[in-house]
Amino acid sequence: MKFWKFLITSLLTVGIAIAFSAFAGQASVVDFPADYQTKFFQYATVDCPKSQIVRKMYVNREVVNTIKTRKIVPSTTVIAMETHSARIGSNGHLMPNQLNNVFVREKQTGWRVSNDSGEWQSAWYSPSGNLVSSSQGSCISCHTMVRDRDYLFTLPALLKAANTGQIQYQKTEFGTSVCQ
Ligand code: HEC
Repeated sequence: MKFWKFLITSLLTVGIAIAFSAFAGQASVVDFPADYQTKFFQYATVDCPKSQIVRKMYVNREVVNTIKTRKIVPSTTVIAMETHSARIGSNGHLMPNQLNNVFVREKQTGWRVSNDSGEWQSAWYSPSGNLVSSSQGSCISCHTMVRDRDYLFTLPALLKAANTGQIQYQKTEFGTSVCQ
């Protein structure tokens, strides 16, 4: 009798543990990196003159050295991209005047949303950190364009900034006006 009790309790415990770890390993929403403006390294500013949007990219500092020395983007990388609406200033350059969105992508070993999304997951936040969307499909559909850059459009700028410590300024190479 005692033995059966023991066996059933053990099986239940193992069952719950398995269920829980499966849940924990499952795609939960990528967090808003609340302190990215002070703690992250801004590696790029991208102007989109057509849509009058300026995008600013930040990466968590912990990975910058690995990116520099190994020239790869390691697991635990978090990239936050701000999108600002902008007006054209008197010098002809875009002047950001309002922060509208924060798009986040995070890379973790073993993450796999689809066959063609690398180890990245995405989330879209408001500037104050409220979740706007955690749907993965729309982000993936476009970022597959740059699968040869580990799904990062601005990988060349990231490598250069990690190497030089200098923020990279550029115009968008892509005709899209997404990431609004
Ligand atoms: C239609 C294409 C498209 C879609 C859809 C899209 N992106 Fe992007 N994303 C871009 C482009 C292009 C850039 C590079 C900036 C530029 O040139 O404007 C970019 C850059 C980024 C970056 C900076 C790192 C990088 O790849 O350069 C992040 C973070 C990002 N996007 C997150 C997201 C998230 C989160 C979603 C979904 C909510 C999303 N994107 C949907 C086109 C897209």
